[in-house]
Amino acid sequence: MSKAEQLAEINTRWTRNCTCALRNTATQAVPGDGNPNADIVFIGEAPGKSEDAVGKPFVGAAGKFLNEMLSEVNMKREDVYITNIVKYRPPNNRDPLPEEVAACSPWLLEQLQTINPKLIVFLGRHALNRFFPKAKIGEVHGEMLQQNIDGIPAKNFLPLYHPAAALYNGSLRAVLLEDFKKIPRMLAVN
Ligand code: URA
Repeated sequence: MSKAEQLAEINTRWTRNCTCALRNTATQAVPGDGNPNADIVFIGEAPGKSEDAVGKPFVGAAGKFLNEMLSEVNMKREDVYITNIVKYRPPNNRDPLPEEVAACSPWLLEQLQTINPKLIVFLGRHALNRFFPKAKIGEVHGEMLQQNIDGIPAKNFLPLYHPAAALYNGSLRAVLLEDFKKIPRMLAVN
């Protein structure tokens, strides 16, 4: 089976079987989008209103900003894979609860094991803290974290501020863009 076929099977199976309670309020699952053969996977927090309506991650305002940053480093969405730690929209975009993160976790791990990227980019503190519970996004953003994590083939992680947080905050936006521009160099060293 190709990676694309494996990923399609994973997403179909978990869309059917995921036990996350957010299924009861969300319109649909938002499994992920992009290239199953990507060297880089972006992990956000959870789908918002637009993502819940469309069924794809980062298609709203934050997604438009993400697309702009990708083009700054000569990448397109089709070059990368984009997903979230939680696959269903929390009501009113509240923070996901630990049990919702836990329920969606095996789905995310299977996606990462199949894609097997060189670099995993965390978009925001929720994604960072899912894998590095003690890290503070204000301290580690833009820094390559190298670690073996159970169940994850990748060893290189780049935490970034969340595009939605940086969207309307000029100084955070500039920091995020500068951090984002490190991605090609970080991919090259691996
Ligand atoms: N914010 C996220 O964290 N994920 C999305 O898919 C959209 C907005």
